[in-house]
Amino acid sequence: MIKPRKISPVLLAGFAVVLKLGSAFCADKPAVVFEGKETLRRPEGYRQWVFVGSSMGLRYNQEPEKPAANKSDRFNNVYINPAAFHEFTRSGKFPEGTVFILEITSAEAKAEPGLQGSYQKDFTALEAAVKDSKRFPDGWAYFSFDDGKGKRKDKAAPFPRSSCFECHHQKAATDHVFTQFYPVLRDLPRK
Ligand code: HEC
Repeated sequence: MIKPRKISPVLLAGFAVVLKLGSAFCADKPAVVFEGKETLRRPEGYRQWVFVGSSMGLRYNQEPEKPAANKSDRFNNVYINPAAFHEFTRSGKFPEGTVFILEITSAEAKAEPGLQGSYQKDFTALEAAVKDSKRFPDGWAYFSFDDGKGKRKDKAAPFPRSSCFECHHQKAATDHVFTQFYPVLRDLPRK
């Protein structure tokens, strides 16, 4: 007969910590919070997510007859939530609940002897793409948290299809995401 052994409380506490850490890492919690069906609260903590790439002056011209506007005066920084990053690393697919953040900064060149190039100065815009097929029939929905007067909004409604989705649908390499421009995702070794 196996004698019931007393489990030390220290050991139990240790297990609890491991479980807690495990669930934080697997991030069962959604990366963003919705109000009602479609209104997205401004995402938080994304600067601690996975940074997948940065671009400067990258832009598809929506009106072919006009030359593309020169937008090289800003940097575009792109983040993905860690749980989606881990899943993409494993399967090459973006799971439900994937969130991308596009944070834009102004570009600044400093007049300083011997210094060249430009750096990121002020945060100027915040956009998000969320994959959630239960809420959005297209799968992905797109949001902006700028009020047009230089302030950040606390929440945002999704854009209509023609504003954002269509360009992403037509030109992005992987499931509406511009992985062709994000070296961290593009060059991942597949397991
Ligand atoms: C004419 C094409 C086009 C349109 C329209 C467009 N985007 Fe994008 N989007 C891009 C490109 C190109 C990138 C690649 C990253 C970059 O800009 O540096 C991108 C990247 C993004 C990303 C990062 C994740 C990803 O999908 O690659 C988000 C978030 C995003 N766009 C949001 C929006 C929102 C919100 C709108 C509508 C207001 C919008 N986009 C409209 C071309 C477009």
